[in-house]
Amino acid sequence: MSTTRVLTGITTSGTPHLGNYVGAIRPAIQASRAQGVESFYFLADYHALIKIDEPARIQRSTLEIAASWIAAGLDPDRVTFYRQSDIPEIPELTWFLTCVTGKGLLNRAHAYKASVDKNNAAQMDPDADVTAGLFMYPVLMAADILMFNAHKVPVGRDQIQHIEMARDMASSFNHRYGEHFVLPEAAIEESVATLPGLDGRKMSKSYDNTIPLFAPREQLKKLIAGIKTDSRAPGEPKDVEGSALFQIYQAFASAEETAALQQAYADGISWGDAKQVLFERIDREIAPMRERYESLLSNPQELEALLLAGAAKARAIATPFTAKLRAAVGLRDLRTQAGQSTTKASKAALPSFKQYREKDGKFYFKLVDAQGQLLLQSGGFESPKDAGQAIRSLQDGTTAVAAEQLAPGLSAATVEAALHSLREA
Ligand code: TRP
Repeated sequence: MSTTRVLTGITTSGTPHLGNYVGAIRPAIQASRAQGVESFYFLADYHALIKIDEPARIQRSTLEIAASWIAAGLDPDRVTFYRQSDIPEIPELTWFLTCVTGKGLLNRAHAYKASVDKNNAAQMDPDADVTAGLFMYPVLMAADILMFNAHKVPVGRDQIQHIEMARDMASSFNHRYGEHFVLPEAAIEESVATLPGLDGRKMSKSYDNTIPLFAPREQLKKLIAGIKTDSRAPGEPKDVEGSALFQIYQAFASAEETAALQQAYADGISWGDAKQVLFERIDREIAPMRERYESLLSNPQELEALLLAGAAKARAIATPFTAKLRAAVGLRDLRTQAGQSTTKASKAALPSFKQYREKDGKFYFKLVDAQGQLLLQSGGFESPKDAGQAIRSLQDGTTAVAAEQLAPGLSAATVEAALHSLREA
């Protein structure tokens, strides 16, 4: 089990634009082709309900985003591609996590705080127009991630806090109920530039400066003609620095092509000609995908079938895992009394490791016996991975128990005996 699980969600609240393609879709599809990774990509339609109350828009966006990813080359056999709302285990896990999450943690979430700050500035009630959905958003997102025990979560910088919160929730749950969740890490693609939009600011729906990924050829041409440039005349040398047109070109072109356009800028290419070059370059990459996209949109049963197959694949993991979590928190078949069922009896008699994070930001673990009595207490580790490593080496006996980590009054032999029983099990 040395594969890395990578998971990310796309909120179904709009139409994909070139910025989404360059910043998320294209790198994700590329990453999904690497060896040793298992990718989970999903349409976060429960998340969309937080922002949008127009049912037709949610449905349309779900269709457009699913079609975009498939048209752009995502191979649904290689990855697990599904729609969040097809996985009923997600809202169930959301509740389990809700019950181990401090309200104060959620008070500090940027998205919620931004709304409160805005209300305060307008001298309104701090929670005016804030739904509990917006408040709970980080818990739903943590459930998305933890359900599949993802190691890496590729996201934009604005989402880093949410991944940290997911880690907090995972540790709280593990601390109470045993090691069930991997602590996920945000994966920020440093090499992927953010694409400027028509007005030169970051391409974003909220600035209304986007170029839809699959705009028809004529519309693409028109939109590109509207990219903001300076007023230099044909024949005058132009600056690539700060040129949105140039930056967009760079995101699609090879190094040689980029160097050639840079030379053309120096030689005084007209803005009209430069826009034509950009248009042709983008269209060259997009045109074949556009055809597939249009055929997928007009044939929704193909996408629907594909998403349902993805959901079945996802639930092959989510359903048994949720059953385990239900048992862990005590939602159990009454016939399996604690200590009677064979698996639980042998498990209950065993010591166990618990991992958690302290206020100093470091990661710790402890070994407790079946009665919850402390046997061993670790020092602080910089990362959960380091702590996990230490646990594993204790478990498989590659490291002896360090004396300073023993609980007071216990001998190394007692703790080794506990570890031995764990290894035997
Ligand atoms: N909140 C994310 C965004 O707006 C989308 C999302 C939902 C997500 N669930 C996720 C991203 C889980 C990564 C992992 O971009």
